Amino acid sequence: MIDANAPKPIYEQIKEYILLQIQSGEYAQGDRIPSERALSETLHVNRQTVKKALDELIHTGHLSVQIGKGTYVSQRKFDMQLETLTSFTEEMMQRGQRASSRVLSQGISLATLAESHLLQMPTGASIVNIVRLRLADDMPMAIEHTQLVEAYCPGLLNGHDFSAESLYDVLLRQYAIRLVRAEQTIGARRATAEESSLLDVLPEDPILAITRITYGERGQRVEFTRSAYAGTRYLLQAVLKSARA
Ligand code: GLP
Repeated sequence: MIDANAPKPIYEQIKEYILLQIQSGEYAQGDRIPSERALSETLHVNRQTVKKALDELIHTGHLSVQIGKGTYVSQRKFDMQLETLTSFTEEMMQRGQRASSRVLSQGISLATLAESHLLQMPTGASIVNIVRLRLADDMPMAIEHTQLVEAYCPGLLNGHDFSAESLYDVLLRQYAIRLVRAEQTIGARRATAEESSLLDVLPEDPILAITRITYGERGQRVEFTRSAYAGTRYLLQAVLKSARA
């Protein structure tokens, strides 16, 4: 397994061994890997060398440490689209994963003053509310509270099953609403007790709090969504252009 006479340094060989265990599923995502001592015994190498290999894999993000508990295989991070307007379903499809939802509640309400400003509707206008837990291959990723102007999508809640259907898809197919632009904000905070249980994260884990106002072709505000994304499962990436160019 480990060859002390090989030109490749021993700690590199240990790294390869651990990566192979991850690739083969022997160490699954989120699993605790054997301790330094156990690895040094299995691989017949000294503990300091195992430590060096583990430190590098922690640095590259393959492993992560939970203080007082041990070293774990990191969960693969999800890229969040920051430059294109996509639905949750599309983002998951692009990753080869299956999107689904658990509908936590849905119904019609009358716009409060704040909601009427956000959706540019008169106070008291009908608003469609849909609260969904969004899942990727059955793993909870986000809780989304969506509000839509009912006048643009009358009867939206009848005859649709938002545990399986994409909202953006229904808006396009049934109401011919093409969403062309969105304004999005991203903030960070800790998970509430309810969020941590729904998202299956620790209470102290970070939440990406995202708001999105989405516009149709005529410049009308169609959707306002407040989302709580499991922050530990995401990586935000963007391409930056020089301000001086
Ligand atoms: C993303 C956005 C939401 C939007 C949703 C639509 O998650 N953050 O604002 O409502 O996509 O997703 P779908 O069409 O999969 O229902």
